[in-house]
Amino acid sequence: MDDDAAAIEGLLTAPVRATMEESTYGAWRRIADADAVGLSFGFPFPDSFPQAELTDAVAAVFEEEGPQALQYGGGAYANRLTEVVQERAARRGIDADDDEVTLANGATHAIDSVCRAVLDPGDVLVVEAPTFMGALGVFRTHGADVVTAPVDDDGMDVDALADRLAARRDRGAPDPTLLYTIPNFQNPTGTTMPADRRRRLLELAAEYDFAVLEDDAYGDLRYDGDPAPPLRALDEDGRVLRVGTFSKTVAPGVRLGWVLGDAAAIRAVDTVAPGGTNTFTRSVVGRYCDAGGLESALPDLRDAYRNRRDRLLDALDRHMPPDAIWTEPEGGFFVWVELPEDVDTTAMLDDAIDAGVTYLPGAMFYPDDGSEHCLRLSFSYEDPDAIERGVEALAETVRPRL
Ligand SMILES: Cc1ncc(COP(=O)(O)O)c(C=O)c1O
Repeated sequence: MDDDAAAIEGLLTAPVRATMEESTYGAWRRIADADAVGLSFGFPFPDSFPQAELTDAVAAVFEEEGPQALQYGGGAYANRLTEVVQERAARRGIDADDDEVTLANGATHAIDSVCRAVLDPGDVLVVEAPTFMGALGVFRTHGADVVTAPVDDDGMDVDALADRLAARRDRGAPDPTLLYTIPNFQNPTGTTMPADRRRRLLELAAEYDFAVLEDDAYGDLRYDGDPAPPLRALDEDGRVLRVGTFSKTVAPGVRLGWVLGDAAAIRAVDTVAPGGTNTFTRSVVGRYCDAGGLESALPDLRDAYRNRRDRLLDALDRHMPPDAIWTEPEGGFFVWVELPEDVDTTAMLDDAIDAGVTYLPGAMFYPDDGSEHCLRLSFSYEDPDAIERGVEALAETVRPRL
């Protein structure tokens, strides 16, 4: 067996090998196996899953559709889920015809499909720095030349992006093909891009002729404030591909997401996603939504996550040393903590785990090096009392280093 493993290693693609050799690759296991308060991963809390409703939905799908529910393509409830996505998009100002939407096996799959449709190896892709590490992994496997735009308290700093794009042109570097952004409650910083920045971003996209991949994984989980329009709602020339997911509002295990975009973009995404989507879970979630399950669950989910966020922010206020600062998200799952520059949060992780808490080191969210002194906390998984204990353990770990 070992010999087989060695043989395949030599046959892997260069981008895959590079990703597997990354120093952060093995770090997952250490965090996942830790016996500590989990403030690391953006997992929904277990009681948020609608187990009873999904059980009913499975029964109803079989009763009403029989074997069709298990056939390639599925039945009426599988199609119903597409309508649900269209109806929910319409409420955000996105008018999506049938050929302007497609389902995917989760947002990450959708991101991968968009990359396959849009990127040639070596194409320039702009990401926020920091950004969602799962997407960074996907971008690497496509051999993209990943460049960054900084994030401030209002999401992507679009003026800084404009400067960087102009500087690239001045020195003859290629313009980007694609820009990836998480405009609402960004992963990992929790920041949100205001409407004027969104408009400016689309002006730049037109000026430099790149496509925009809008990842709104957390858009339904806003706890305060008013939403800004989605980029896709502001998209006048069909260059925005907007991805979403049921992972955070139904369950990650259903592996269901979607892409909204211009008909040509959706046709391209469908072309590169052979095998189609997971039609059985599509039917089950289609039935669940059709029966009103999602709409009635959302207010409770928002209350539960708001409560967790408030406990986290309150615990940070009370326990963290004064040199630490952090973001205050209006939604989503994440708070970004900045410590003094000389603190290395990757090196600090083992001590934090010993003290009883896990987090994700800031460096994981950058394509290259960056922000060793920052870390991401997720308030999605643990209950509020555990969150408080986790922050106490974090403060205990940080204090001697300041
Ligand atoms: C910004 C962002 N996009 C996508 C995902 C993943 O979504 P999915 O489970 O649908 O692949 C996550 C979850 O961790 C995320 O934070």
